[in-house]
Amino acid sequence: MSVSLFTCPICQSPLLPAVTNWHCDGSLNPKNISHGFDVARQGYVNLLPVQQKKSKQPGDSLESIAARQRFLQAGYYQPLQTLISQQLDQLLSTKPAQINSEQAKSSINWLDIGCGEGYYTQAIAQIKRFDTLIAADISKPAVLAVAKASKLTKNLWLNANNKTVIYPLVTSAAHLPLSANSMAGISSIFSPILPDAFASVLEDKGYLVIAKPDVGHLAEVRAALFAEVREHNSDKFLTELEPFFELIETRQVRAELSLSSAALADLLTMTPYAYRAQPEKRQALLAMAKEHPLVTTAKFVLYVLQKKAL
Ligand SMILES: C[S@@+](CC[C@H](N)C(=O)[O-])C[C@H]1O[C@@H](n2cnc3c(N)ncnc32)[C@H](O)[C@@H]1O
Ligand SMILES: [Zn+2]
Repeated sequence: MSVSLFTCPICQSPLLPAVTNWHCDGSLNPKNISHGFDVARQGYVNLLPVQQKKSKQPGDSLESIAARQRFLQAGYYQPLQTLISQQLDQLLSTKPAQINSEQAKSSINWLDIGCGEGYYTQAIAQIKRFDTLIAADISKPAVLAVAKASKLTKNLWLNANNKTVIYPLVTSAAHLPLSANSMAGISSIFSPILPDAFASVLEDKGYLVIAKPDVGHLAEVRAALFAEVREHNSDKFLTELEPFFELIETRQVRAELSLSSAALADLLTMTPYAYRAQPEKRQALLAMAKEHPLVTTAKFVLYVLQKKAL
């Protein structure tokens, strides 16, 4: 059986990347049938079989991806982007080169799950410490945006040996098409967290980096939208991660924002909880921001965890 980083989402056999069509070797398939997955013209591969789709267009919509792209490109969350890349750089700088005895070649592979349109993925690529950087999301418009960006800005996605590292994949976090123990790390930036699925593809002592909103995140926006403001509770997901992961560091970062009505509209479109607000409150807030920019603070927490030796 050949050694491959990727596995077939249908039969779990090793899956071999290629320029136009990825195919599995069928070795784990009772009939030894090989499955093929075309590389789309824009450069991404769809590894989400229909049976894993819970809706016709899973994940974030095109509208929400476009709003996030405009908002993030304007730099409002740059302090978080900088913290993520600094943190990963620091984690991997202490990592010995021989990290994966099962791979034919020792390689450093990173998965950014729920990558959205790739704002943080791009910053991760720029630390240039990877052989492979997998930008994965269940939303096709999201992965398409990453693929397009990586074609337009080729130089940003090269590793220290000038080799392209980025693999944009449509996949579900629950069914990762990746070999066991193959990833040096996973980042989940405001995205789903699946403790066993992540632990299974991570190497021993592999890293899991999670970003979440902190207490008081966008307090002024939420106070205007909701009668009662519910704070994010970190305990639940940390408890679920505990059997597999040890928390090694927690960092907080904030960004002071002054938002025009257009920027606020984008923020509300990309923020899932904003949909729960009454439309009149939303409209009133946007109308107010037309008069004066809305001043608020984005507050984030970055959790760094490490896989326990199981
Ligand atoms: C809040 S967005 C964060 C996007 C990006 N990380 C960022 O911070 O800009 C969450 C992302 O997770 C994706 N997502 C939701 N459920 C998923 C799943 N089961 N597997 C993979 N991605 C998923 C969505 O499509 C969306 O792009
Ligand atoms: Zn297969």
